[in-house]
Amino acid sequence: MRKKLIKKGNLYFPSKEFEKRAWVNDKKIYKEAAKNPIKFWENLAKQLFWFTPLNSAKGNLTGEQKWKKTFVHKPPRFQWFVNGKINITSNIFERNSLGWESIKNKPALIWEPEPIQEKFRTFTYEKLFREVNQFANALKKLGVKKGDRIGIYLPMIPEAVISMLACARIGAVHSVVFSAFSSTALKIRLQDTGAKILITADGYWRRGKIIDLKKNADDGIKGTKVKKVIVAKRAGNKVKMEKARDFWWEDLAKNQPDFCEPEIMDSEDTLFILYTSGSTGKPKGTVHVCGGYTVQAKFTGKWIFDWRDEDIFWSTADLGWITGHTYSCYSPLLNGATFLIYEGGIDWPEPRRWAKIIEKYKVSVFYTAPTAVRMFAKYGTGLLKGINFESLRLLGSVGEPIDESTWQWYFKNVGQERCPVVDTWWQTETGGILITSLPGIGPFKPAFTGLPFPGIKFDIKNGNLVLLPPFCPGLLRGIYKNPKKYLDTYWKKYGKKIYFTSDAAYKDKNNLIRIIGRVDDVIKTAGHRLSTGELEDAVSKLKIISESAAIGIFDEIKGEAPVIFIVLKKAGNIEEVKKEVIIQLRKEIGPIAKPKQIYLVDDLPKTRSGKIMRRILKKLFTGEELGDLSTLANPKSVERIQKIIKN
Ligand code: WTA
Repeated sequence: MRKKLIKKGNLYFPSKEFEKRAWVNDKKIYKEAAKNPIKFWENLAKQLFWFTPLNSAKGNLTGEQKWKKTFVHKPPRFQWFVNGKINITSNIFERNSLGWESIKNKPALIWEPEPIQEKFRTFTYEKLFREVNQFANALKKLGVKKGDRIGIYLPMIPEAVISMLACARIGAVHSVVFSAFSSTALKIRLQDTGAKILITADGYWRRGKIIDLKKNADDGIKGTKVKKVIVAKRAGNKVKMEKARDFWWEDLAKNQPDFCEPEIMDSEDTLFILYTSGSTGKPKGTVHVCGGYTVQAKFTGKWIFDWRDEDIFWSTADLGWITGHTYSCYSPLLNGATFLIYEGGIDWPEPRRWAKIIEKYKVSVFYTAPTAVRMFAKYGTGLLKGINFESLRLLGSVGEPIDESTWQWYFKNVGQERCPVVDTWWQTETGGILITSLPGIGPFKPAFTGLPFPGIKFDIKNGNLVLLPPFCPGLLRGIYKNPKKYLDTYWKKYGKKIYFTSDAAYKDKNNLIRIIGRVDDVIKTAGHRLSTGELEDAVSKLKIISESAAIGIFDEIKGEAPVIFIVLKKAGNIEEVKKEVIIQLRKEIGPIAKPKQIYLVDDLPKTRSGKIMRRILKKLFTGEELGDLSTLANPKSVERIQKIIKN
């Protein structure tokens, strides 16, 4: 039986037993790393496999030297491990720091399908390696070269992980699009990357139904450069295969050789592009690079999730988001850990499916979003009677602020007061976790995400969280094809040497950081990231709408949920219009964009220059003082909207 955490005042610390076993359990690490963060990351990076000696034209490196300079800063640009040569898949497989012989027969990936009668699948490291190589060779045969962008639009099935790794093996840049995004959302992303190949599936199971993914993919590639579509067979639903364009995964991969030379990648070469929402309607392609991302993915996972040989790790995040990229794929694999991915709804076909999965696989480290925990809590603890959570030793939270009562519920009812809760703060942009108390050190304080990871320097400038040099090795290097946006979004507010996170935060007397939330136009709903601009752009495409405004308001399960205000061009049937708006959002973005409320109004509050004041609309829900409205072009509109909301 595991020991309970130690409570001192309002802080919790790991039990002695937990502390002793942890990879990191000495507070000194913070001081040491802070003395010279560049050296700190350099020492960690040396534990990875880099191709040496270097023969690059500019490099002239010899012998065992792995890179020329660890950190180079030309604000706002920066580089890590300059001229180093690496391949993330070599570090996962044949050159894994744990030793290939010691991991090749252990399970890397366990896949749990949604239908309970269906059997799970397991991939040992060796089997995964074989499949990655075969698929990498298949991609090569289709003409894929280093630097080519590949779209991945796959559900939570092993082929998603295999696709990502196969791209990385040959130096192709993957751009994963969340499978619940609509065909329009897929199209926008494919157009931006200019991908010529898309990897997708026939369909998948979601809440007891088969989703026809291939159909979405077919619609999504219209008007893009995609010339070839690879289709993994999953749900067995009937799909239309277009000759010379569509290929079954199996047919392409099965006769390929099971070894493919890893592409020697420069540390600063792009590993992947992942789209995320910013303050405008157009999603931004965050660019992540091979060297720094690998280093950060490896060590944040190792120290924060504290994996050992016997651990089974389950992160519920979809591979379509950054949490899925880093902690449902790269990080556990770099650490030779065993992890689980699950296809479907965590409360399907019964509310405690998630708990059943933990029990079935003896999951020891569980990572999810506060929204999920609030949902579990709402179903009530009665449901959990008889569930055995003994296997759990560590819990994690991600994606949105976790309020105190949700933290306590998670800690008590799932963790049985024996599991540290690591509340991890990070962003698509940072590539890996940057703030959380380390599980073997603590302290853990409900609603506080904790201390910056060793080697990471934060500051809070008039309430805003900012990241200081040398940042982190995995921080995004750009926004694909949009250097101006990169500069404006991250390196303008506080100058070119300070990364602006767009989050508000404060520190307590122990220096623990509490995240308040976004200060820009990003809505975090159920842990997913949406922008008000995206919602508005989608809605405004409807002919009957003259203009719209979207805001995020408090939601007891999702944390935040979108609310849409619409102004019509001419009178219409209100209920019909609302339905249309809902359908439109699903079509343009996907089910995550479902609004909590839609209000029909006759005017939106605007400044004299015509800017919609979302901030004022938001205050109508929080009950905050509205402040001086006289600067608005139409102050009376606020009163009228207030009445509509009250009704
Ligand atoms: C929010 C998700 C509070 C934050 C990994 C950030 C959090 C945004 C936490 C990034 C946390 C993430 N506590 N807020 N532990 N983790 N956030 O890009 O507002 O989907 O800026 O990355 O999520 O969302 P993204």
